[in-house]
Amino acid sequence: MLRRWRDDDRAPFAAMNADPRVMAYFPGGLDRAESDRLVDRIGQHLADHGFAPWAIEVPGVAPFAGFVGLSIPRFAAHFTPCVEVGWRLAFEHWGRGYATEGARAALAHGFGLLALPAVVSFTSVANRRSRDVMERLGMRHDPAEDFDHPAVAEGHPLRRHVLYRLEAGAFVV
Ligand SMILES: CC(C)(COP(=O)(O)OP(=O)(O)OC[C@H]1O[C@@H](n2cnc3c(N)ncnc32)[C@H](O)[C@@H]1OP(=O)(O)O)[C@@H](O)C(=O)NCCC(=O)NCCS
Repeated sequence: MLRRWRDDDRAPFAAMNADPRVMAYFPGGLDRAESDRLVDRIGQHLADHGFAPWAIEVPGVAPFAGFVGLSIPRFAAHFTPCVEVGWRLAFEHWGRGYATEGARAALAHGFGLLALPAVVSFTSVANRRSRDVMERLGMRHDPAEDFDHPAVAEGHPLRRHVLYRLEAGAFVV
């Protein structure tokens, strides 16, 4: 189930943001204050734009399993401004299809109600599981569009990112 965030999501969200397995392809984990600031930013994004990543609940299993959804990247790159689809699941919920299923719902919302012409997704080159989600969604990778993420320090092994795109007409529900 995809739903709005609640205050009691903050503790399990902070736990997953401090898990080195979940944060392996980010420059570092988040502490509780940084994790809470991210929840606040998601709430502000919803207020500003009318959409934002949803919290994922698995009824009868976990009240909070992660997030998935649409957002507008805050940095400048050759493909911005744009809307991205992104995901992050607590480690115990990997391998069940939740990210792909949730992202399909986000894309249906983006191409339907929001009438977006295209949605992108990006991650560190080595983040195979995330790239697999992009490929299952039918997103296309053009190596000529790979880029250095401006928020990752120069020389850091995670700086190089792949960019995937999906045009509205190519989305199959
Ligand atoms: C990226 C991430 C969300 C991918 O999670 P995931 O569980 O591998 O992806 P999905 O939810 O799409 O699940 C797909 C897996 O579930 C399996 N699966 C099991 N039951 C399924 C079902 N009913 N339907 C679909 N897939 C199912 C698939 O076979 C696949 O398994 P495989 O990877 O062994 O082939 C997760 O690894 C993560 O949170 N990583 C850390 C955060 C991160 O890096 N985010 C991206 C940064 S840009």
